[in-house]
Amino acid sequence: MCGIIGCVGCGDGTLSTLLHGLSKLEYRGYDSAGVALVGDGSLRVAKKAGKLDALEAAVEERADLAGTVGIGHTRWSTHGPPTDDNAHPHQDCTKRVAVVHNGIIENYQSLRDELAESGHEFDSDTDTEVVPHLVEASLEAGRDPEAAFRDAVARLEGSFALACVVEGTEAVFVARNDSPLVLGIGDDATYLASDVPAFREFTDRVVYLEDGEFARLTADGWSVSDVDGTLREKTVDTVDWDPEDTGKSGYDHFMLKEIHEQPRALRQCLQGRVDELGGSVTLEELDDLDLERAHLVAAGTSYHAAVYGAQLLRDDGVPAQAFLSHEYATSPPPTEDATVIGVSQSGETADTLAATREAQRRGAETLAVTNTVGSTMARECDHVCYIRSGPEIGVAATKTFAGQQTALNLLTQHLSPGPVDRDLIAALRDLPSDVQAILDETDAEAVGETYLDSDAYFFIGRALNYPVAMEGALKMKEITYKHAEGFAAGELKHGTLALVTPDTPVIANVIGDGELARKTVGNVKEVEARDAPVVAVTDGQSDVERYANHVLEVPETHPRAAAILANIQLQLVAYHTAAKLGRSIDKPRNLAKSVTVE
Ligand code: F6R
Repeated sequence: MCGIIGCVGCGDGTLSTLLHGLSKLEYRGYDSAGVALVGDGSLRVAKKAGKLDALEAAVEERADLAGTVGIGHTRWSTHGPPTDDNAHPHQDCTKRVAVVHNGIIENYQSLRDELAESGHEFDSDTDTEVVPHLVEASLEAGRDPEAAFRDAVARLEGSFALACVVEGTEAVFVARNDSPLVLGIGDDATYLASDVPAFREFTDRVVYLEDGEFARLTADGWSVSDVDGTLREKTVDTVDWDPEDTGKSGYDHFMLKEIHEQPRALRQCLQGRVDELGGSVTLEELDDLDLERAHLVAAGTSYHAAVYGAQLLRDDGVPAQAFLSHEYATSPPPTEDATVIGVSQSGETADTLAATREAQRRGAETLAVTNTVGSTMARECDHVCYIRSGPEIGVAATKTFAGQQTALNLLTQHLSPGPVDRDLIAALRDLPSDVQAILDETDAEAVGETYLDSDAYFFIGRALNYPVAMEGALKMKEITYKHAEGFAAGELKHGTLALVTPDTPVIANVIGDGELARKTVGNVKEVEARDAPVVAVTDGQSDVERYANHVLEVPETHPRAAAILANIQLQLVAYHTAAKLGRSIDKPRNLAKSVTVE
């Protein structure tokens, strides 16, 4: 939700570095973008509604747009529609100050009223615009630029990652509270961004900022201080993935690339954690985790992984329940002794952070299951288990869902009071090659093509395949903009069956040949009798193929692994449907990759 970039020390390459960074951050928001550059004593700003190419075109016309220090922003609207005026950077009345912001300033209305009363005029509907005006007021009172920025930040309530430049001062001033910010430490330049891909091509050395910290970037280097201005020692970490990981590598879309990266992502997740010979799972990082009962909290796709994970734990005798994090944060259940597991790809989702923080406030132990090293959730929770999927740029989560499912399997085996399930260990070992087999042989494109004009899509599954059905439907809606619903298969006949027609394909996950499969085949027969087309995602053990118009096969394996494999087929159906409809697959309308506001 909004991406920030900044750089100092890039010389003539400042503008191109900012635009490059914005292109890597567009997944965070893409309804408008802008840059501000300081150099030769002047401050110059360009901003434009629309995707980044609109800003790039506008910048081409601006020969004056040069500088050696710069900040940039790509926006996902919270206050006011996507217009040129509402795009960041925002400025003060004198146009000497420019500010970019990610987050929500909760007390902006009272600040705006106060500033308006003392004569400040506003150009936008945003909450952000109060910040440059507050800086302006302090500059007028005789404060130097850094002190003026600190004064402004001291007046703010809410969540913010802020970067500010001031005419005549070759520095970027930065503050963080509840929204991510990371510094990139190059040999000659220093970078600032909401996320590492923005500058990964230039450096792999990073410094994560904490809530309440300020940073100052100048040609002489960088420093981090606390709210009182006391300098802080910071650790410089090294990121361990390649810049290539953030490019499309010849695929039409990041989403397709990331779907195809799943064998590698799952291998990374399993590496060094599964000892097949010894029949054990080791999550060293969780050796001191003492869990008797679990509440898994998450949103969106991660919630579906949480529902899946909760069932794994319950099936192994650990009381566990999954909650939507936004609901959990506001009305937590009374259970005091539960370990709260935040499941979040980004580790920055405000709703899920609110839930883990509420749990910590109540004294509960917390665990983050996340993909993002150094994310807020990873740093705040008592324990962290990384899913190791590598960077995911497409807004629709794909490889990280499979990574979460896999990591939750490892977690369950690690915690399980009973003996390790050797069949599962073997199935997890084969998971990357089983996923590869699906990618090589899938008929998902034909399914997408056949049902392109459908009124709606219904996804059904039981037990572990119920969250997979919900996830299949979510993927379908977010990238195709078509109506889709995911159900526990038994629920379909309790109402939704009324919507089933020849124009509503039903995509059924039927794994194994046991009771669950037999019951789901019964549900398939019910829809088939209403002339709805059926797409069966199956390992071929049941007779569902007899009632299906299309079959998407998954290799026969352990049911826990099969639910991971079934989802791969659903990802591909959603992808090919969206591709044939010509949708904006990597940046679906109205969405953003990381939702850092509640
Ligand atoms: C859907 C999707 C979202 C996220 C949700 C939580 O494809 O990506 O539903 O799953 O916004 O995000 P994280 O996992 O970062 O907490």
